[in-house]
Amino acid sequence: MLVSAAQMLKDAKAGKYAVGQFNINNLEWTKAILQTAQELNSPVILGVSEGAGKYMCGYKTIVGMVEGMIEELNITVPVALHLDHGSYEHALKTIEAGFSSVMFDGSHYDIEENIEKTKAVIELAHSKGISVEAEVGAIGGEEDGVIGGGEVADPAECKKIADLGVDMLAAGIGNIHGKYPENWAGLNFDVLAQIQELTGEMPLVLHGGTGIPDDMIKKAISLGVSKINVNTECQLVFAEATRKYVEAGKDLEGKGFDPRKLLAPGVEAIKAKVKEKIELFGSVNKA
Ligand code: 13P
Repeated sequence: MLVSAAQMLKDAKAGKYAVGQFNINNLEWTKAILQTAQELNSPVILGVSEGAGKYMCGYKTIVGMVEGMIEELNITVPVALHLDHGSYEHALKTIEAGFSSVMFDGSHYDIEENIEKTKAVIELAHSKGISVEAEVGAIGGEEDGVIGGGEVADPAECKKIADLGVDMLAAGIGNIHGKYPENWAGLNFDVLAQIQELTGEMPLVLHGGTGIPDDMIKKAISLGVSKINVNTECQLVFAEATRKYVEAGKDLEGKGFDPRKLLAPGVEAIKAKVKEKIELFGSVNKA
């Protein structure tokens, strides 16, 4: 059964670890992430961007696939199915389709409009037991065509949004989606500490998990980050493993062209990456 992310993140905040949100792109991705979380006895959040939602034939298809897998693969760890960077319209669509968690990203609106729209999403989602993530201060870089300015959030604005009753709060602290540039200044821990100070118990979300050095991840968790999003890193290892398979000519040997064989190295690479992250985030045996 899908669960809201609220309780798993409260537990994470109290226990000083983080739950990974791994974005899904297809059946192989979903299966690899669910099996790894189960093997490590860790809660997990499956992230779906609007673009990935469209690619996978819509939100109802995704709910059917994930619920089916949870049952057929005997997944017993807590799993939240979460809309990533949703517009108001898509937050409503995913709530309707049966997602258990949504992110409403109003960071590109002015703060008053962000507050109004976030409030409306909270009201509807909470009436159905669905958790809500809000965002203050756009996350930099590009994800699925959504380009963020890379702002550092204003802690006072974070407090305003947190007070609306969201279940988790994403705040820009110099993090970027995709690969980090050579000259990246790193995470702004001073701002993170101020946000944590003002928002107290609120689980904070770190987007752009790909490529953030391990020591920065650990420090962010110690300063209140309870959910970390990873997407690009799984895509990179999947592509690399698939390329190696093809370049070695394995698709031309026997039935190596069978998609179950062709995609297997990529799936194993995703599993290894997700395992590495779950261990780093400290959520092993926290299911
Ligand atoms: P990365 O693609 O940089 O890992 O970011 C993922 C993310 O933040 C999803 O919202």
